[in-house]
Amino acid sequence: MSAKTAARSAAKQPRPGPPAYAVIGLLVALLLLGTGAFLWLSGEAGGPVVGGPFALVDGNGHTVTDGDFRGKYLLVYFGYTYCPDVCPTTLNAVADALDRLGRKADRLQPLFITVDPRRDTPAVIKQYTASFTPRLLGLTGTATQIAAVAKEYRVYYAEHRTGPGPEDYSVDHSSILYLMGPDGRFIAPIRADGTGAEIAADISKLVS
Ligand code: NI
Repeated sequence: MSAKTAARSAAKQPRPGPPAYAVIGLLVALLLLGTGAFLWLSGEAGGPVVGGPFALVDGNGHTVTDGDFRGKYLLVYFGYTYCPDVCPTTLNAVADALDRLGRKADRLQPLFITVDPRRDTPAVIKQYTASFTPRLLGLTGTATQIAAVAKEYRVYYAEHRTGPGPEDYSVDHSSILYLMGPDGRFIAPIRADGTGAEIAADISKLVS
């Protein structure tokens, strides 16, 4: 048998699937990784600090920095206006949570920071955030500014082509709400996949 024939007949052999224990092991590993990441973000595992100084641009084209919000709690979320499902669902829940929080919501400034600064111009992000609640402040910036703040918040984002055109792309991104204290320090991650009632309950426990 020549090497070529051997390779061809080997390719025809049905490949055995991974044994069941390997699959279960992988699932357990992924679950642990997920929990670990959450603990790491919450600082309970002594992980690095989340958040930090930033300079971004608001819907009116004005520069906004983290220092502008001292004295207020921040609820920070990263996403983009073209997001088909996760962002609008989360932002609707946040708007609902703010209504439920009553006067506590006055102590809280929710921020929506785009991970798609190319399409999310100040005008685009302003119109988008206003469609959820006037309380929500949308922020954009240069690609460099966005990359810097995303890195500080340990946010993952990556463009994926969906077609040949320059606008044919989506952006994968992590979906976590970050609660920051009046001193600018990270308090806790808030699950972004909760209902408005759940998000309000989580925030209410942590906001005095
Ligand atoms: Ni999204």
